[in-house]
Amino acid sequence: MSAASAPGKIILMGEHAVVFGRPAIALAIDLRLRCSVRPSMVSTLNGQPMDDRAGPYIATVLRENWEGGPLAIDITSDLPSGSGLGSSAAVTVATLGAIYASKGRMVPETIARRAFDVESTVQGRASPIDTSISSHGGGIFISSHRSDNLLWEISRDTRRWFIHDCEVPKMTLVVGFTGKKAPTGPLVAKVRRYADRSGFAREIIDEIGTLTMEGLSRMRAGDVEALGRLLTKNHNLLTILGVSTPALQRLVDAAMPYSYGAKLTGAGGGGSMIALTDEPEKVATAIRARGGIPFIVRTGADGVREEVDPDLFMVSR
Ligand code: PMV
Repeated sequence: MSAASAPGKIILMGEHAVVFGRPAIALAIDLRLRCSVRPSMVSTLNGQPMDDRAGPYIATVLRENWEGGPLAIDITSDLPSGSGLGSSAAVTVATLGAIYASKGRMVPETIARRAFDVESTVQGRASPIDTSISSHGGGIFISSHRSDNLLWEISRDTRRWFIHDCEVPKMTLVVGFTGKKAPTGPLVAKVRRYADRSGFAREIIDEIGTLTMEGLSRMRAGDVEALGRLLTKNHNLLTILGVSTPALQRLVDAAMPYSYGAKLTGAGGGGSMIALTDEPEKVATAIRARGGIPFIVRTGADGVREEVDPDLFMVSR
């Protein structure tokens, strides 16, 4: 038996613009997904027969990365699936982690590359941001230019991403899940159409890139007030790009009185928002009062890691 766990994520700044080569920042959060694998007579997922319908990411991981016999795979997760918190990346990364751990070598870079391949196969993923942050943990800064603290570089077709480590202070964020996740692909396509026909949209995308660079330096300096203001500006620009919704805006408005700043996170169209705050309970209550599902999360989570006592990790977080 071998086991591994991987964290969920939030995109702090730069979503959508990253698809156009602008920078983005993603942070690992302390909600994890755990995967254990053991040889078995037939392949199962949580005791049920394994197939692409039951677990498309896991089935693809096995097809692309496992030469051995059938495996019994068990998953436990703190991450609500479909909330935009990176549960599909986490399940892919943790399963790869458990498989590589069983072979005695677990290298986050290798896992990040393989996981991006799997996400691309299953959902035609636009960027390697989710799989890289879940593999590395902490914080990453992704850009089309190489700069300091490079972790790895990933290319696909004509696109190229440089993934950098970024130091993250301890921060508390409240995630507000709208309860409805819109698929990422159509939202990326919608922004693409807008950018193709509008110079104004392209300017907004550039502006998000500039804000993200500023956010990076504010975060490094631990200036949460300035960072919060940038998050709110980033949200307003994403709204102009057409990816916010009334439900997301309600949750952002609910959080604002107790927050340094708030924004939608990820693709939008539903999914989740985040608020940077030092009054998480108040923000959580306000989000709940407007029909959202709050999660108080902390930054600085480990990336993919082997779990040495699989029996214990099933019950603890
Ligand atoms: O919906 P999420 O959290 O997986 O984020 C999507 C982020 C986009 O920038 C919209 C797309 C991408 O692949 O980078």
